[in-house]
Amino acid sequence: MVEKPKCSIVLPTYNEANNIQIIINELIKLLEKNYVYEIIVIDDNSPDHTWRIVEEEYINYQNIFCFRRIKKRGLSSAIVDGFMLSKFNNMIVLDSDLQHDLKIIPNIIDKLSNNFDLVIGSRYINNDSMKDWNFFRRLLSQFATKISNFIQDSITTDPMSGFFGIKKKLFLEVVNQLDIKGYKILLDIVAVLKNKKNFKNIDIPYKFKERIYGESKLTGEILIESLDLIYSKLFGSILPVNFIKFITVGSFGALIHFSILFFLYKFLDYSYSFALICSIEFSIIFNYFLNNIWTFRFVKLFGKQNLIGLIKFNLFSGIGGIIAYLVSQNLYNLDFNWVISSLLGAIVASLWNYNLNKIMTWRVN
Ligand code: GDD
Ligand code: MN
Repeated sequence: MVEKPKCSIVLPTYNEANNIQIIINELIKLLEKNYVYEIIVIDDNSPDHTWRIVEEEYINYQNIFCFRRIKKRGLSSAIVDGFMLSKFNNMIVLDSDLQHDLKIIPNIIDKLSNNFDLVIGSRYINNDSMKDWNFFRRLLSQFATKISNFIQDSITTDPMSGFFGIKKKLFLEVVNQLDIKGYKILLDIVAVLKNKKNFKNIDIPYKFKERIYGESKLTGEILIESLDLIYSKLFGSILPVNFIKFITVGSFGALIHFSILFFLYKFLDYSYSFALICSIEFSIIFNYFLNNIWTFRFVKLFGKQNLIGLIKFNLFSGIGGIIAYLVSQNLYNLDFNWVISSLLGAIVASLWNYNLNKIMTWRVN
């Protein structure tokens, strides 16, 4: 008798109480005859008690269990934990909300059993799966894919896919280099693989379906997350990524500062000092909010904390402004060229602003 192919299926869940039983039952139907399999649900202590459904309904299944993580959130880290728990060499992850088409699973297992190390379910081959998406979502998704092709050297047509199979051996080779804070785990994997040649991969088309129950936790974060990844791939080895983000925000802030200054002073004829104060304050506020939602989004401040943060940010940036002034003025007095003087002043002040706000405003060590 031929041996049945083996496979571990990882299902990350957060509030999927309406979906989890349907998907597990469909997986059982799909796999029970011809495969040796296990289903690992990684649930981040969902408020809707998804974990309890798995624990109770499948108590008699030794190959189906739920790992309920406490005080931990995040899709990538859930998938990593699921893969680490898998006992078979063939591993597949998919969303637990019925958006992924289960029919291609046998094909993925087949490819994994036949020398492929990475088998990716792609929404972009035979491309009608996006036709039901609204314009904005399609644009976002395509844009994110374009910029990410740049980081991953076009290994796959769908680097943002949440549906893929991977050999445990290959996964263990890259896991230490993954940034598991976000949810773009596949993009991260292929970005690491870009510099390896010893693996074989293939894309398999499938149709991405609309969600029926529950809601997406990710839409809108797609752009930010891909931008983060690009930043860490481009600059991560040179400077702390958060510092680069802080500088990026600061540069936009400076642009806004000059535009407002110009507008108030030249167009509306306000006095120079009034225009200056307004534009400085506005750009500080702009910097604060952008840093809060992007640079320090992992420790984002909300509500009252957000207001306190803004006040602290104002204070430290104000001191930063004085530092910039003193450094530039002194260098200028020492006969440095005015561009170099002000540039060095700005660099010293940025270092001050970044470190003080990081530690005191967002409380990151
Ligand atoms: N354990 C855990 N922890 N699971 C999570 C978390 C979390 O913090 N956040 C989301 N999930 C689970 C959801 O329950 C679902 O099963 C799956 O991860 C995907 O989450 P959705 O919220 O449904 O994401 P989506 O449909 O917007 O995004 C899908 O498409 C993206 C590309 O458009 C996912 O497949 C993404 O991976 C993919 O990039
Ligand atoms: Mn989904």
